Amino acid sequence: MKINIAFDVYGTLIDTQGVLNLLSNFVDKKAQLFSETWRAKQLEYSFRRGLMKRYEHFSICTKDALNYTCAALKVALSDSQKQQLLDSYLCLPAFSDIKTALPQLAENYQLVAFSNGDAQSVNTLLDNAGLLEYFSDVVSADEISTFKPSPEIYQHLLDRVNSSAEHTWLVSSNAFDVIGAKSHGMRAAWVKRSEDAVFDPWEIEPNVVINCLDNLLQHLNK
Ligand code: 2OP
Repeated sequence: MKINIAFDVYGTLIDTQGVLNLLSNFVDKKAQLFSETWRAKQLEYSFRRGLMKRYEHFSICTKDALNYTCAALKVALSDSQKQQLLDSYLCLPAFSDIKTALPQLAENYQLVAFSNGDAQSVNTLLDNAGLLEYFSDVVSADEISTFKPSPEIYQHLLDRVNSSAEHTWLVSSNAFDVIGAKSHGMRAAWVKRSEDAVFDPWEIEPNVVINCLDNLLQHLNK
């Protein structure tokens, strides 16, 4: 049975730093704090909506988190500036290691993109980043109207790749995603995209920690 590798998208395949560059044109010195607050609140809203069973597209969580961040940091953005920031989520660059690593992995593994984002948004994002060709499928949380790290979303992934947890890896820079996948019986690699990133001190740990995807192949066969 071919081993599957499911790749998280935002922050793992796709560098959301591109949003920061646009943000710095609008909010200057607050750009880093704004970006971090926005991302944290975007994820928080997805967690809350999942628990409350009040699902909306991940793009709604992103929009609502943007409005929260403007209010919390007392930053007045025009509707046009907000729309530019939201639109930028559809056209962000891949991390520099992706285009060397994916072709090598695709030779021996089935690769799928796996995201909270709705399928259309993720397809557009990956196509704009030149990555869509490497994936046999795009698996979206939107298909079952809940979010990571619900167990249902990892089971949906396994159903979509028609495989078992033992034959499926998750690769993600998001610790909550790695913990969710491991909790569902999958193996998982944490991509430590920054030196100061901290993995949550839970009883669940990644199978492997890598700082770029070039190092992944050597760990998969262990
Ligand atoms: C994802 O792409 C939120 O980064 C996470 O699903």
